[in-house]
This record gives sequence, structure tokens and C-alpha cells, in this order.
Amino acid sequence: MSGVTIKQETPTERTARLLRLQGAACRSLGSPLYAGLLDHAAADLLAGGPVAAVLDGHLTDPGPSAVALRMLGGAHALALSGRAPDLAACYPSAGGTVPPEGSTRGWQALRHTLAEHRDELSTWLDHPPQTNEVGRAAALLGGLRQLAAEAQLPIHLIEVGASAGLNLRADHFCVPGDAGSYGDRSSPVLLTGGWQGSPPPAAEIEVISRTGGDLDPVDPLSAAGQLKLTAYVWPDQAGRLSRLRGALELAAQVPAELRRESASETLASAALTEGSWTVLWHSIFRQYLDAGQRADLATRIEALAATATASARFGYVYLEQSRDGPCKVALTTWPGGRWRVLGTSPAHGLPVHWSAPRHREERAWPP
Ligand SMILES: C[S@@+](CC[C@H](N)C(=O)[O-])C[C@H]1O[C@@H](n2cnc3c(N)ncnc32)[C@H](O)[C@@H]1O
Repeated sequence: MSGVTIKQETPTERTARLLRLQGAACRSLGSPLYAGLLDHAAADLLAGGPVAAVLDGHLTDPGPSAVALRMLGGAHALALSGRAPDLAACYPSAGGTVPPEGSTRGWQALRHTLAEHRDELSTWLDHPPQTNEVGRAAALLGGLRQLAAEAQLPIHLIEVGASAGLNLRADHFCVPGDAGSYGDRSSPVLLTGGWQGSPPPAAEIEVISRTGGDLDPVDPLSAAGQLKLTAYVWPDQAGRLSRLRGALELAAQVPAELRRESASETLASAALTEGSWTVLWHSIFRQYLDAGQRADLATRIEALAATATASARFGYVYLEQSRDGPCKVALTTWPGGRWRVLGTSPAHGLPVHWSAPRHREERAWPP
């Protein structure tokens, strides 16, 4: 018998490890600010500081619940709403400046915020981060252009898992760039460099109705909804923040219907209409469905597809994770039921790499 004993990780040690892992992910996804703060937060948790008090009761939460991002989202909301001025001074999103590498000013401000607002921050631990990623509209716009080139008809746009429904206004966004471009540069949402590779065809997009459904929708017109969406964007990610703020501005000008309902319910009330495309769209949503819900989604899509005609068309566009690489942007159109992968993108949507038609993965529905 060997005398080696393996020490079991305590819940506190496990959570400290998850905070550090989240920090590493933030660094690789473009937030050195959160990477540094989470390293300090992990040490503070182990030392029994304010992080331990805020995370009390959540040390055995499952890893994917991302307690680090829940806690940081709450602190960001305090900074954005003027209630944590020291932290705001370190957050570009709140008008501040990221302290230089090696400075502990940001961490001291976060630690102070956590200690001062412990009870309020604990409530943020009970809710998953809720974002609406505007960059993903670059994929939707390419899909819409592709189907408009197939038949130039106005579009009824339906989104399931729509969050705040910001991307239901995608036709008002602008994609400036070399690989094709879309829209008007005066748009408050610029998806700069959002299209790479073989650009989508230059067809006109006319959206005549916008309907979204989500189990937990965020009202983009309310101050609380806007604060929530902004709080979950990382404070040093200027591009994402500016796209979000532009899309919130557009949401106030371009109405869309947003319902609190499941994807099944949204599809149950959908019907194709003469003289138009009905387009179903979703992004980074499928992973939230269990096997039964996925099967139900497919059945409802097939039921709608079965009613498609040359004058009442159905299009299905999605941007979803794939098992074997980057996210896929896929389009299927009916009548015909031709599924094809138009391009790929990272999970935040930008940039989309459009494939040349001859290189596309393509087959009959179901893929
Ligand atoms: C990661 S978010 C993506 C939101 C948005 N599609 C985007 O790309 O920014 C996933 C969204 O799906 C919603 N959701 C999860 N399961 C759902 C279901 N069965 N029906 C409707 N919405 C659902 C969640 O509430 C959440 O808003």
C-alpha cells in the first residue's frame, strides 16, 4: 500500500479555482481587467474576505452557473448607476480608466464595493447572466440577404430565445467592410469588419414585422432592462458596449413585439403569410434546450415548412455552436428544404467568415 493521501478540494478551494479559471477565460476573450480582478477575488475568497461573504451559500453551485460573472455583473451595475464611484473610476464603461498593470486600485475598489453592498450583490447570485449579443446580427443579416436574393419578398422576422430582442432590428444596423457591406454608416450600430470571405449577395432586405419570444425576456426600453444588459458586458470591452448602446437606442425607435414564452409557444402561434418570407432565427440558444425540446423545435419547424409555397416562403437562419469548431451560420429555405452552412463565426458573432458557394456544406433538410 502506498502512503499517499489525496486531499479533497473544499468548496471554498473549488470556487477559488473556478474564479481563476473564469479570469483566464476573460483574459483570452479580451478583458484583462476582469482577469486581474478575478485573480484577486480568488485570493480574497480563500482569505475569508468580502468575496467569501458575497458568495456565501453558492460555493457548491454548478460550474456553468458562472458565479464569478453573476457577482461581477452586480458590482458593474452599482458602478454604472453611480453607487460605487471608486469602482466606476476604474471601469471605462462608467467613464473611468483601467488602472495600469500592477496597480491594485481596481481590486481595492471592487473589494470595497463587495463589502459595502453585500446583501444587494447576493441577490445577483440567484440569476444567470443575461446578455443580448448585438454582434451576432452580422450572421442574421447575411442569412437575410441570401434568402432575399432567392426571392425578393418582404420578411416577417421571428426570433426564439431573443433575450431583449435587439437583433430583431438588425436591418437597421450597418456592416461596413471590404468583404461586402450592408446598411447606412449613420446607424448607431456599426458591425465593423463583421463580414469576411465571400460576401452575401447584395439583395434588399425589407422587414415588415418583428416578433421575439424568451423564457426570461429583458425589456430594452426600461432603465432596469438597459442596466441589466449593460452590467453583464465586461467594462473594458468598448466594442461590445458601443454596439449594445447603439442597439438600445434603435430599440426605442423601431418597435418589436417581445413575449415571455417558450420557443415552442412562439412557434405554435407562427404561420406563413402570402407574399412574404417568414423567417425564424436564433443564436446561441440551442444549447439551453434538452433533447425533448430540441425534438419539439424540429417538429414545429417541419410543420411550418410543410405549408411553404413559392409565394408564402419559410426561411430558417441560425448561429449556433458546433461540436467540431467555430459556430455555424446555417440557412434553410422552403419550398425545397435546402440546408447549407453559409459561414462560421466566434460565439460573440464577429466576424462572420462567409464561405464561397462551391465550398459550402449543403444537404437536404433535415441536415
Ligand atoms: C445565451 S442567451 C442568447 C440570447 C440571444 N439569442 C443572443 O444571441 O444574444 C439564450 C437565451 O435563450 C433563452 N431561452 C432558454 N431556453 C429557452 C426556451 N426554451 N424558450 C425560449 N427562450 C429560451 C434564455 O432566457 C436566454 O435569453
